[in-house]
Amino acid sequence: MSTASTPSSGAAALSLEGVTCTFVSRDDPGQRYTAVRDVDLRIAPGEFVSVVGPTGCGKSTLLNVGAGLLEPSTGKVEVFGQPLKGVNARAGYMFQAEALMPWRSALANVMAGLQFRGVPDAQAREQGEEWLRRVGLGGFGDRYPHQLSGGMRKRVALAQTLILDPDIILMDEPFSALDIQTRQLMENEVLELWAASRKAVLFITHDLDEAIAMSDRVVVLSAGPASHPIGEFVVDLPRPRDVAEIRTQPEFIALHEQIWSVLREEVLKGYAQQKRVA
Ligand SMILES: Nc1ncnc2c1ncn2[C@@H]1O[C@H](COP(=O)(O)OP(=O)(O)O)[C@@H](O)[C@H]1O
Ligand SMILES: [Mg+2]
Repeated sequence: MSTASTPSSGAAALSLEGVTCTFVSRDDPGQRYTAVRDVDLRIAPGEFVSVVGPTGCGKSTLLNVGAGLLEPSTGKVEVFGQPLKGVNARAGYMFQAEALMPWRSALANVMAGLQFRGVPDAQAREQGEEWLRRVGLGGFGDRYPHQLSGGMRKRVALAQTLILDPDIILMDEPFSALDIQTRQLMENEVLELWAASRKAVLFITHDLDEAIAMSDRVVVLSAGPASHPIGEFVVDLPRPRDVAEIRTQPEFIALHEQIWSVLREEVLKGYAQQKRVA
């Protein structure tokens, strides 16, 4: 466990350099809000990086920049060494909100991305069924989203993301709405799937336990405005990990304390700001 230095050899899977995002108020165009300022963030191929920070600090903003859904006001974004233009085609996303199409069955949801890419139906179906099995939903392909539990819907969303075999996986608080047991099961499943394919992951969360348990590296963002990384920690706990068990290990607890000492003040600042706004 030590403060990290970013891997420097080879092109990063995703690299943000000097990224600043300033939003113009819709009601008053003279009013500007700089959510993140001068952010450097590199994720190596195969690396699992979590970004933690208080609510409203700019985590989703950074993920959207990496996804190519939001163009930064200034700064550079590169994907495997190439400047990112438009939507990041090397990345798959999983967001906090439900992203399933309610009118499609679980299988049809999982197949959708392949179909949009022009893969023939029979082949898309076969791969869709395989992915449903991988996320533990083998017999549930014909169910519609409303017939599935919250955890099952998340599994479908996971299969929907991974079936496209993205080189970069972007996850924005994907499990925060789940109860703790379901959440830990999902976290372990994600780790297992990740271990099998070793894609670069940018995982956004406000939950420090989750960040440490899952990641190779944890980046701490300051409270906004002008949020930026204020700490970076390597998590060199052995893998495979069980996210529930790992929390009890002395190394985990020590690292948690170390990161929390940096994060705590930012969370309090973020909370104070939210109260002011409310
Ligand atoms: N499109 C937008 N227009 C104006 N303000 C925005 C926009 N997107 C985000 N913000 C503001 O930027 C800040 C960071 O938002 P966000 O990245 O969603 O935070 P987090 O994901 O860390 O909770 C917030 O204060 C939010 O209100
Ligand atoms: Mg967010």
